[in-house]
Formats: sequence, C-alpha cells, structure tokens
Amino acid sequence: RTAYWRVDPARPDPGIMARAGLILRQGGLVAFPTETVYGLGANALDALAVARIFEAKGRPQDNPLIVHVADRETVGRLACRVPASAGKLMDAFWPGPLTLVLPAADTIPRQVTAGLDSVGIRMPAHPVALALIAAAGVPVAAPSANLSGRPSPTTAEHVLQDLNGRIEVILDGGPAGVGLESTVLDLTGDVPVILRPGGITREELEKVIGEVRVDPGIDGVPDRGSPAGEFRPRSPGMKYRHYAPRAPLVLVEGEPERVAARLKGLAESYLSRGWRVGILATAETAGEYKEGQVVVAGWRKDPATIASRLFGALRRFDELGVDIILAEGIEPRGMGLAVMNRLRRAADNRIERV
Ligand code: TXA
Ligand code: MG
Repeated sequence: RTAYWRVDPARPDPGIMARAGLILRQGGLVAFPTETVYGLGANALDALAVARIFEAKGRPQDNPLIVHVADRETVGRLACRVPASAGKLMDAFWPGPLTLVLPAADTIPRQVTAGLDSVGIRMPAHPVALALIAAAGVPVAAPSANLSGRPSPTTAEHVLQDLNGRIEVILDGGPAGVGLESTVLDLTGDVPVILRPGGITREELEKVIGEVRVDPGIDGVPDRGSPAGEFRPRSPGMKYRHYAPRAPLVLVEGEPERVAARLKGLAESYLSRGWRVGILATAETAGEYKEGQVVVAGWRKDPATIASRLFGALRRFDELGVDIILAEGIEPRGMGLAVMNRLRRAADNRIERV
C-alpha cells in the first residue's frame, strides 16, 4: 500500500515531514513535489534504496539519478571538485530548476551515477522538497516520479496513476509550477554544456557565465539529415523514447499558419478513417480546429505557459482515449527549446517540417 499524505505546499506540517524523512532515511521511497515535476526520492547514500527506484520505475540501469540537496555545503561532499562557475550559478539560480553535473566524490554509490564519474546535483525551489531533504538528513536521489517512458508527473494524481503500490509514500503538495524538468548543465569540461534543456534557459545561463553550448546529441536542435551515430547524446536519459502518451504523437513544426493548415489536413484524413484524433494546440491557433479533441497547452508568445501544462495535456489525451495525437510545434527558443525537446522525444521520429 502506498500512503497518500496531503501537505500545505507553502508551509508543510513538520510532523508529516519528519515521518516522511524517517521513511527515506530507513531506505523507503517517497514521492514529493518540486517546482519542476514530482520526484521519486530515496536516500542517495543507500545503494539498496537507490536500486529500488530503478525497480519501481522500470528505469534502465544506465540512466543516472539527480541528487537533491537542501544546502550548499552538501555539494562539497558529493562533488570532488566545484569550479568557480558552479558557485556563480548556485548564487544566481539555486534553489531552482538547474542541475549541475560535477566530478563525483567516491562516497556516492555507483547506482546513483550509473557508473559515470560525474554526478548531477540540484537544490529544488519547493518548500516541501526542501523540508523533506532536511528532515531526512541525507541527500536525496530522485528521478521524476513516473513509470519510465511516461510523461513526467506534474501532480500527485499523476504519481498515483503510475506508482501506486510500488512506493511507500506520496506527498501531495499541489501542482508543480514549471512543469518541465530542470536544465541539466555539464560543468566537467572546458565549456559548460546543456545536456537537457529545462526550467532555466540557455540565455539566462549565458548572462551569468558566458558561453554555454547545447549538446548536439539532444534533439533540441533540428537534426535533419544527420546520421544517427553523429548525435549520440551525452546525457544517458536523452537517448530513450520518453514523455510518451499512449497514442502515437505526430509533431508538425514550422510557421504557425502552415502548421495549422497541415494539422487540419492530417486530422481530416485520420477522422475519415474513423480514428479518434487529439490535437495539441497553442492558444493562438486553437480556434482553427473544428473537429477532434483539442487540448490547449498554452501561448506561443509565452512558452512557459506551454511548459507548465505540457505533460498534463499529454496525459489528458490518454484519458480521452484518442488513437493519434497531432501536435503543433513552437519556436525552439527560450523555454520553447525545452518544450520542443520534450515534444520531439514524445514524437519519436514522427516529425514533419512544413
Ligand atoms: O527537474 C528535475 O530534474 C526532476 C526533479 C524531480 O528534480 N528530476 C528529473 O530526474 O527529471 P530524471 O531522472 O527524470 O532525469 C535526470 C536526467 C537524465 O536525463 C539523466 O541522464 C541526467 O539527468 N543525468 C543525471 N546525472 C547525470 C550525469 N552525471 N551526467 C549526465 N547526465 C546526467
Ligand atoms: Mg524523467
């Protein structure tokens, strides 16, 4: 049985947090809200507890976990070297949706790093997450609290759908705000590299530390015509099909009017064959679609609104029972880069450019 505890997202009850912290310290699994998505936590220093995360999620063994901390001092015990750029980034963005990949100290179990010599660390900006880590008194390894391959959970209800009966506790602290996972930034080389675009944009990072590259192995940049091997991602998690609703998703990218026209044509042809069609639209062009199940994610002019509702929208299509999802692409800039990265992964290879 999985216990389900409601907590006040702004001022979580200390008694509940103490109980949840104890469960973590004793090797249990606790799902908790963060500002990005819900995480599935285990004591990062307990190899057996960490192994249970992989089992509960059905997660591939070669995909490392992010270690969550509630204070900066702990970073010095998890990483064997902390470059000056890391300090600047922590000043600017912690607590917040930025994961720093640093050279790992040898105290970290290899289950956490999946055998890499680096470790991803972040301090989440959520009172419940911070209180939980503090109550546990140990750093907390936590991937997103979904079954592997499914859209990340942005509510406790999503966590329940995926992990009920597989974990000890779900802490319900209401919906996550950012809606997409943290930006993963590799600081182990000469130039910082974004391994996964997320809640902090490349533009924001560059204001603080100068040049930042985007790993060409992620699909945040158009990869038209590139041979597969050339774009092997450096973040192991980026190579798996991910963020997938049950129905196949077709992503159409390009100029908004052309995208809408192409989507209408596709919708008609699927509908005429008797398929149930879902359309993932932006608010600007949603009015174009007269048929099919239209779900509005947010505004093109403010991609953060799309980010915060994207995973919920993908799960909504599961509830609607559609046979195919037709999705509008947006411009891959600012938060749009992270949105498009998740949509391209959800689409697998069904991407059209018009
Ligand atoms: O916002 C988030 O980051 C959420 C919340 C719960 O904090 N967590 C999350 O974890 O998204 P997960 O496990 O779903 O994604 C972690 C990503 C994976 O793509 C993984 O490959 C990458 O971070 N990663 C972790 N450690 C790494 C390392 N040492 N080197 C390269 N990539 C790493
Ligand atoms: Mg995940």
